[in-house]
Amino acid sequence: MFFVNYLPCCGLQPAGHYQETMIAGKNNIGENCMMQSDMKMLLNPALKEIAVYKVEGGQQAEIKLNQNESPFDLPLWLKEEILGEFQMEPWNRYPEILPYRGMKAYADFLGVPVESVLMSNGSNEMLYTIFLACLGPGRKVLIPEPSFSLYEKLALLLQSKIVRVPMQPGLDFDTEAILRSARDEKVDFIVLSTPNNPTSKSLTLDDIRNIAGSANAIVLVDEAYIEFSRERSALELIREMPNVIVLRTMSKALALAGIRIGFAVCNPALMQEIAKPKIPFASGRLAEITLMRVLANYSLVTDTVSYILHQREKVYQELLSIDAVEVFASDTNFLIIRVGDASSVFRTLQHEGILVRNVSGYTMMENCLRFNVGLVEENQRLVRKLGTL
Ligand SMILES: Cc1ncc(COP(=O)(O)O)c(C=O)c1O
Repeated sequence: MFFVNYLPCCGLQPAGHYQETMIAGKNNIGENCMMQSDMKMLLNPALKEIAVYKVEGGQQAEIKLNQNESPFDLPLWLKEEILGEFQMEPWNRYPEILPYRGMKAYADFLGVPVESVLMSNGSNEMLYTIFLACLGPGRKVLIPEPSFSLYEKLALLLQSKIVRVPMQPGLDFDTEAILRSARDEKVDFIVLSTPNNPTSKSLTLDDIRNIAGSANAIVLVDEAYIEFSRERSALELIREMPNVIVLRTMSKALALAGIRIGFAVCNPALMQEIAKPKIPFASGRLAEITLMRVLANYSLVTDTVSYILHQREKVYQELLSIDAVEVFASDTNFLIIRVGDASSVFRTLQHEGILVRNVSGYTMMENCLRFNVGLVEENQRLVRKLGTL
């Protein structure tokens, strides 16, 4: 076979040896390599303000409820269909620069022109693309707070000014404050995660229309959780509002977090511009085929969404009767609770094999935990344990 064992340049050793020498504290990477502190001077100064991304408690657990995933994997028959098709693809050839087959399938599914959609390797990758297109030194972005942490990280990396607009005490959006800040601060870019991670609350379509209509800014509406929402999607705005971009992910309701698929949808003229920083060839053939097959079997998605919504309501009602827990009404596939001591409850649950997310570090979310709705048995075990606090 043709697997080549690449040896890195600059005198680097193969990985195993390199690790050993680093552990021994003898940095023999090469004479010209600089000490770590000097190196830091050469890097983007924004890195000083950014922490390494970690998931507290890891990504393995008997009952894993910490990443807002679907508890249902695709059925085996569908995986086999997908793999059968994937097998026939030329693995030695680059895919198209952009995954046009997947983009056409999703555009048809949404009923929008193909020029309005752009597919990415997860919606995180699309966030990088859109932020690169919209921000840079001296530019201003409005972000309601708390919200998805990647927004702030990207804005910092791009050395842009962040205008933070706090949620209301019950974690609902403060639309008036968003409108006011957008106007007073003359922001260039507004990012609305709605329904919002981590608060689980939504803006109404009228709110979004109001914000996009009154601000002289690009408005990104991240709809990662829209399939679980009571509100209407902002997709219907893209024809009337040239400054609105809708972001979608296939990682939540479509249960494809492991395949990495995201989309941006907007007016074709804006799309031409935001597509410019896009990483070429970022989506592989498997992602396209999987997307097309899942869209062709969409009843699987609507069935699991109904299950999750039913369970969300059940868990919510049960938590309302537990005194030690304050539960917030949710518009997503996850719930937020406030407890006496979030760190201690996190550990107690972890001890029971139940992994949730401690979101206490976010502004206004002191002692809050977040967990996605799981299978009936998983939800029951969680609720039972919370009942014993
Ligand atoms: C609001 C929001 N946007 C985007 C993402 C990124 O999703 P992905 O990169 O899996 O598409 C997430 C993931 O949790 C999210 O909560």
